[in-house]
Amino acid sequence: MQQLALRWKSLGVKVGFVPTMGYLHAGHLSLVREARQRVGKRGVVVVSIYVNPTQFAPTEDLAKYPRDLKRDLKLCRAEGADVIFTPSDVEMYPGKAAGYYSTYVVEETLGRVMEGASRPTHFRGVTTVVAKLFNIVLPDVSVFGQKDFQQAAIIQRMVADLNFPVKIVIAPTHREADGLAMSSRNKFLDAEQRSQAVILSHALQAAKAAVAKKSISAAKLKSDLQAFFTAAPLGHLDYVEFFDPKTLQPVTQVKRGAQMALAVYFGKTRLIDNAQL
Ligand code: PAJ
Repeated sequence: MQQLALRWKSLGVKVGFVPTMGYLHAGHLSLVREARQRVGKRGVVVVSIYVNPTQFAPTEDLAKYPRDLKRDLKLCRAEGADVIFTPSDVEMYPGKAAGYYSTYVVEETLGRVMEGASRPTHFRGVTTVVAKLFNIVLPDVSVFGQKDFQQAAIIQRMVADLNFPVKIVIAPTHREADGLAMSSRNKFLDAEQRSQAVILSHALQAAKAAVAKKSISAAKLKSDLQAFFTAAPLGHLDYVEFFDPKTLQPVTQVKRGAQMALAVYFGKTRLIDNAQL
């Protein structure tokens, strides 16, 4: 992959890159379209499909993470992606099993809250694998989803801090007709959980309406939302936070324009969503 990328570089071909963990849905495919837009017909679009073990904690769903490479390849082809990069664990982390892998990329501020607080080693795995993928694919532009708002912010910070020569583009969240953000993990929801899962997007809408005309204290808004969540008894709120979209620092008074993010468990399935209010 890196040899190919170096060849593209020498020929002046622009490279657009969409890193994924596969089990692709319309949200992923919208990122592929965005990458194509950015590099044009004469550029190349690379999609990586790799379920990265270092971003899963031992207690998490690595083995169970959904996979369907045949279907993914078909979808990527139909969307006009040029190269699908599907490395194995041994290619990405040679020597890891034998204890010879010891270099990680760690963002030290933005990754401490929210997803980072709930999943302490998660972002270290994400920044490490994305840095490795950038070094392998050598993209000019790489597209990430707003769905994982904190991840996108951390990648932007890593690229700025470590001088990666790549432009990061953040694309909007693709949703099902009822508002549920598309996610590879939605397939784990049973019918009842699936119908209650709209609570995440409804909570974002409710908060947006609540701050449309006046600001509200974060504490009051959180307790209002907790009551709101009784409508989805199968859901267990992990966190809901209100914060500055640039710094990710929590705000005590929530105004229009603040960012809200939440994570909710349905059984073992953990769903996240976010929006600017
Ligand atoms: P994955 O969850 O497969 O997501 C790949 C990309 O698709 C991410 O940038 C994510 O934000 C975006 N995405 C997911 N759901 C979306 C939706 N409903 N609308 C728009 N975009 C959506 O995120 C990862 O993989 C990994 O952490 C990765 C960056 C590949 C590193 O391993």
